[in-house]
Amino acid sequence: MPGPPYLSDRAAALQPSLTLAISARAKSLQLEGRDICSLSAGEPDFDTPAFIIEAAVQALRDGITRYGPAAGDPELREAIALKLSKENGVATETQQVLVTNGGKQAIFNLFQVILNPGDEVLIPAPYWLSYPEMAHLAGAHVKFLPSSAATGFCLDLNSLEASIGPKTRLLLINSPGNPTGRVMPREELEAVAELLRDHPQVLVMSDEIYEFLLSDGQKHHSFSAIAPDLADRTFIVNGFAKGWAMTGWRLGYLAGSAEAIKAATALQSQSTSNVCSFAQRGALAALQGSRQCVTTMANSYNSRREVLTNGLMALDGINLVTPQGAFYAFPQLPQGSLDSMSFCKQALENHGLAMVPGAAFGDDSCIRLTCAVSHETICDGLERLSQALKKT
Ligand SMILES: Cc1ncc(COP(=O)(O)O)c(C=O)c1O
Repeated sequence: MPGPPYLSDRAAALQPSLTLAISARAKSLQLEGRDICSLSAGEPDFDTPAFIIEAAVQALRDGITRYGPAAGDPELREAIALKLSKENGVATETQQVLVTNGGKQAIFNLFQVILNPGDEVLIPAPYWLSYPEMAHLAGAHVKFLPSSAATGFCLDLNSLEASIGPKTRLLLINSPGNPTGRVMPREELEAVAELLRDHPQVLVMSDEIYEFLLSDGQKHHSFSAIAPDLADRTFIVNGFAKGWAMTGWRLGYLAGSAEAIKAATALQSQSTSNVCSFAQRGALAALQGSRQCVTTMANSYNSRREVLTNGLMALDGINLVTPQGAFYAFPQLPQGSLDSMSFCKQALENHGLAMVPGAAFGDDSCIRLTCAVSHETICDGLERLSQALKKT
């Protein structure tokens, strides 16, 4: 349906999230009294750890309720720079960090300050669904680098090399990845770095928001640590949402060259200003406090990911690339079955099972399920999925 005539071309071209239709329908079925099992969430099912909440409450009591610097509180920027330097092996100064309203705003701001209309952004597919829309909002063209379950969702280096042209400005990487849960191994990152050394005009955005959610034996590598010689053209996006269960706090950060951070700060100063002042105190407490809470939550996802993975593998016709991180599984539907949107619609209408169609992430042969729900919900969901598969 065309929108009202006063909408800007930019707004008219914006794709509403494909997943909204499914979640809205799931909610209305629930309101009608239907028993709905949802494996569609994209967020932790834990409450934010108490010591982080306490720090924010204390900040409110202490009067931390006023405007702050647009780039973020100096203490928090410094703590993030320290974390990147010490834990990720990426030497970072305070002025190279911008505190943002979630990882989302970090990506949005970055695209706005480094992309010109007509620039090309390379996005490995499947991808997190906001990347292409944000690139379009910056006037850039998107070139997808497809991968498939058949090849374990590995980045095809030949296709990466072939896709780089004079207009290519930015390559996105996301590890651990949403929706596949794939963790890029060190060798793959090294190979990407090697290739990019021949293309000095190409910048890199490394989205590391799931860095703490790794299955046993997996290791997270920050791209800038693997290729320090490319650090001046690599931008790190990260945040507190997934690791510390702080999705609603809207706290993320962008790290990279001081010049780009200065430009992104100017943009933020003219748009949203500082991130909520007392929420930043919560984030500071998260970074300075014990990491036991993060480990406990990560361990819990690990055991539930295993239940989901084993259950999916036992289903006839399902092809699953074992997720190694984040809290998703992205199985491929059996050959010849419905497209992902129709399959998810039918699963919801007929079996009360809510999942996210792979089409939302650029792979129409797959569906995304979360393990950030209780064991019982996972098992219930698997049973419903098995019924839905029998009917297709
Ligand atoms: C891959 C990826 N990057 C970035 C984000 C943004 O996270 P937030 O804005 O909640 O910090 C998400 C959220 O789902 C994500 O999955």
